[in-house]
Amino acid sequence: MTSPITTSRQGDVLIITSDNPPVNALGAAVRQGLQAGIEEAAGDDIKAVVITCAGKTFFAGADITEFGKPMQEPSLPVLIDAIEALDKPVVAAVHGTALGGGCEVALGCHYRIAVPSAKFGLPEVKLGLLPGAGGTQRLPRVAGVELALEMAAKGDPIPASKAKDAGLVDRLAGEDSLVADAVAFAREMAAAGGPLPRASEKQASASPALFETFRKTNAKRFRGYEAPADIIALIEKTTGMPYEEGVQLERQGFMKLIMGTQSAALRHIFFAERKAAKIDGIADDIKLRDVKRVGVIGAGTMGGGISMNFLSAGIPVTIVEMAQDALDRGTGVMRKNYEATAAKGRMTAEQVEGAMGLLKPTLNFDDLAECDLIIEAVYESMDVKKEVFGRLDKIAKPGAILASNTSYLNVDEIAASTSRPQDVVGLHFFSPANVMKLLEIVRGAKTADDVLATAMALAKKIRKVAVVAGVCYGFIGNRMLMPRQVEAMKLLMEGATPEQIDRVHVAFGMPMGPFQMSDLAGVDIGWHRDPTRIENIRDALAAEDRWGQKKGKGWYDYDEKRNPSPSPRVAEIIEEFRAKSGATQHEVTDEEIVERTLYTMVNEGALILAEGMAQRASDIDVVWIYGYGWPVYRGGPMFWADTEGLKKIVAGLEKHGFEVAPLLREKAETGERFNK
Ligand code: 3HC
Repeated sequence: MTSPITTSRQGDVLIITSDNPPVNALGAAVRQGLQAGIEEAAGDDIKAVVITCAGKTFFAGADITEFGKPMQEPSLPVLIDAIEALDKPVVAAVHGTALGGGCEVALGCHYRIAVPSAKFGLPEVKLGLLPGAGGTQRLPRVAGVELALEMAAKGDPIPASKAKDAGLVDRLAGEDSLVADAVAFAREMAAAGGPLPRASEKQASASPALFETFRKTNAKRFRGYEAPADIIALIEKTTGMPYEEGVQLERQGFMKLIMGTQSAALRHIFFAERKAAKIDGIADDIKLRDVKRVGVIGAGTMGGGISMNFLSAGIPVTIVEMAQDALDRGTGVMRKNYEATAAKGRMTAEQVEGAMGLLKPTLNFDDLAECDLIIEAVYESMDVKKEVFGRLDKIAKPGAILASNTSYLNVDEIAASTSRPQDVVGLHFFSPANVMKLLEIVRGAKTADDVLATAMALAKKIRKVAVVAGVCYGFIGNRMLMPRQVEAMKLLMEGATPEQIDRVHVAFGMPMGPFQMSDLAGVDIGWHRDPTRIENIRDALAAEDRWGQKKGKGWYDYDEKRNPSPSPRVAEIIEEFRAKSGATQHEVTDEEIVERTLYTMVNEGALILAEGMAQRASDIDVVWIYGYGWPVYRGGPMFWADTEGLKKIVAGLEKHGFEVAPLLREKAETGERFNK
């Protein structure tokens, strides 16, 4: 097998180039090739060395697929030490993203030159790990403890300009002359002579207060995650320590995390997210439909949010409403949202105008004839949707994709109201649609392959994580939400309180519990709006104007700062219903809440999988992580079920009299997992 590493010479400068698509991951062959390159660099005729990468990026990290397998020599830390130990200048020439082990290779080099578009980062934390090839030790010494903490504990990359200001990059290269500039730099440094700047030989220092402040400021973001806490503690402990001792502690910390469940869960999600983009039975190279302009029907919260995704990606949008005031209100909200983003410094004023400039608001439905993809975001009623699709069928151009943003309804029935069901697909965005990452792409019985593939490609363009779902009530996400909601309400009747159920969910790692979520979304959503018709606790709350946060009261009472407190009135209402129903009360334990509200979701997931409504178990995990805030460190409901043990899940379900999904039972009995 040919090595992904080649060497070439420009005079007395040795250029070591890696070409290991797609991201130059530092797998065994790359490490072995680099080692050979370093040996070659020791030759007398070489005065300086440049390490660079071909393709779209500098090394994007260790090869994650090798984790958990026997390690092949040389290990990355050993290799990087060998680079640093060379007694002639070594320059890292960086383009794309120098991430994780890639950033650590760059730190092992004596000098770093980067194109302005390059980025540097230590994203190991996002895989539940800490940097394990010297990153926690060399980065603080090169760029300061504060930035190192920020980069290692949060995992977000920084641009080359910031890296330059911090001393992580020594020089910026021309965007198109990286290698030439790197060779010139290397030669210059060789000619200058003098001691080589080795990161491991530098000192780092920080005040103890820095760590405490950092912990406090980021407490919410890090809640439940092991790796950030370990990273902060490691850098705190090793700052001021000799390099060799620090690096040993780093190694131990890395090994501890890589064996843990959280890292397994986070790595699972890394690959699950990428796998979700692959559609069973459709070739990767299928010809896509051209989508130059998108139409959106409805300028309400959903339609506006959906439109913003496309505008932000530079795709023009025609948005249709029935009345001028609704149209003005909708576009006004979109502008306000963009301006709020700009006020936070995440967009420039020009970008706001650029995005809004791509929007064409109109009252004329026929204007949709110019669109290549039309998404309806109108009232959730089959009759209304059918009427809209019937009209679309008459005016849309041939080959245009017709999409429904329905969250529950039967996409095949909607498609049947057109003469072109092959062009119809479900695009279920999650609210707020301009923020939430998840998109369920609903594959109808007749949806054409190229329509599906085009929707998937567009999802990537608008930076969504998309999952293909089949046609069933609630698709993947909302269908699994249903048993959870049903059980939560039953538990109230049997003795639990909203506070207890929410507390259990938050402790599990959810951003909020079912009742907190209901108060945020609006208790009145989907309510029949007849205050005299009170059939359940929810009806009673809605009838008393307890619509949630927007009214200052819902399942909880809220103060003017929207801080919740348990509501005596809600307790009374629950008590009235308990008395009326005659339901037997018992002491509800936290464990019972988990079994009845979370195990039942897994059970529903197993049914979804067996029915082929999700392509794979990991897709279900992706839905819950990106659509509902399931804690990433638990890897999604199906991965979590695997780690709980499927036998335990089955026993828990049986204890409460639930019918166990056959696929779940079968896997529990054979010892198989949902995610292999
Ligand atoms: N190892 C193995 N495979 C990797 C990989 C890695 N580090 N990074 C990406 N890939 C694979 C992806 O799985 C994907 O495979 P597929 O085509 O079969 O689905 C392919 O490369 C392309 O990846 P993306 O679709 O993500 O490509 P993008 O262009 O969108 O993004 C990227 C590129 C920003 C580099 C992104 O892939 C990324 O963030 N990668 C992970 C980086 C990372 O976490 N590095 C740290 C690794 S841990 C480490 O280094 C430990 C060390 O401290 C010891």
